[in-house]
Amino acid sequence: MSRSSKRWVREHRKDPYVQKARQEKYRSRSAYKLLQIQERLPLMRPGDAVVDLGAAPGGWSQVAAKRVGPKGCVVAVDRLAMEPISGVDVLQGDIGEAATVDSLLEALSGRKADLLLSDMAPSTTGIASLDHDQSMALAGRVMDLVPRLLRSGGGLVLKVFQGGDLPGLQREMGSRFKTARTWKPPASRTRSVEVYLVGLGFRG
Ligand SMILES: C[S@@+](CC[C@H](N)C(=O)[O-])C[C@H]1O[C@@H](n2cnc3c(N)ncnc32)[C@H](O)[C@@H]1O
Repeated sequence: MSRSSKRWVREHRKDPYVQKARQEKYRSRSAYKLLQIQERLPLMRPGDAVVDLGAAPGGWSQVAAKRVGPKGCVVAVDRLAMEPISGVDVLQGDIGEAATVDSLLEALSGRKADLLLSDMAPSTTGIASLDHDQSMALAGRVMDLVPRLLRSGGGLVLKVFQGGDLPGLQREMGSRFKTARTWKPPASRTRSVEVYLVGLGFRG
């Protein structure tokens, strides 16, 4: 095992969010990032329809399903296979493929989502500029999907890796949503370049 992998394993074992996730039965420590964003901003209400892009292993979908309750719906998609979650419609596919988007629309049965989540991340290379470009490309795909999937007035939470193209995306969020914020929740590791863009009140 490389020195950086050893450090990751050591840090992962000690990480309070990893331990909390285990105790509270969340599938990922990432669940706490969404819970912390939700504590600050009114993202979801009972009865809402939520689409979770890049959902595996399913922490965010668990948070969303709890929040929207039995009258709401959650559709989760990932290119990786995901274990079923009660109250979540789980799809497998790449969001860059038309067939995946068709399945998402079908799962929503004509309804548009109240909230679109994307915690998607590219496979990282360790080369910051390349990882940023790939993260921005994923974010671009999500932005293209917004008018098809999100209702007017709805919200978006979008993870991106920081870098030179971030200000342009922030401006786009500002023009498409009534409120746009960029935030790094406490559960996001300081070392990670990820930040979350949150848009509320889609001007669709
Ligand atoms: C950080 S993980 C998501 C963690 C999740 N929010 C949770 O709480 O469990 C990022 C996910 O994005 C997925 N992903 C990346 N690119 C994708 C794409 N083009 N289509 C679908 N899923 C994608 C990856 O397979 C990975 O499972």
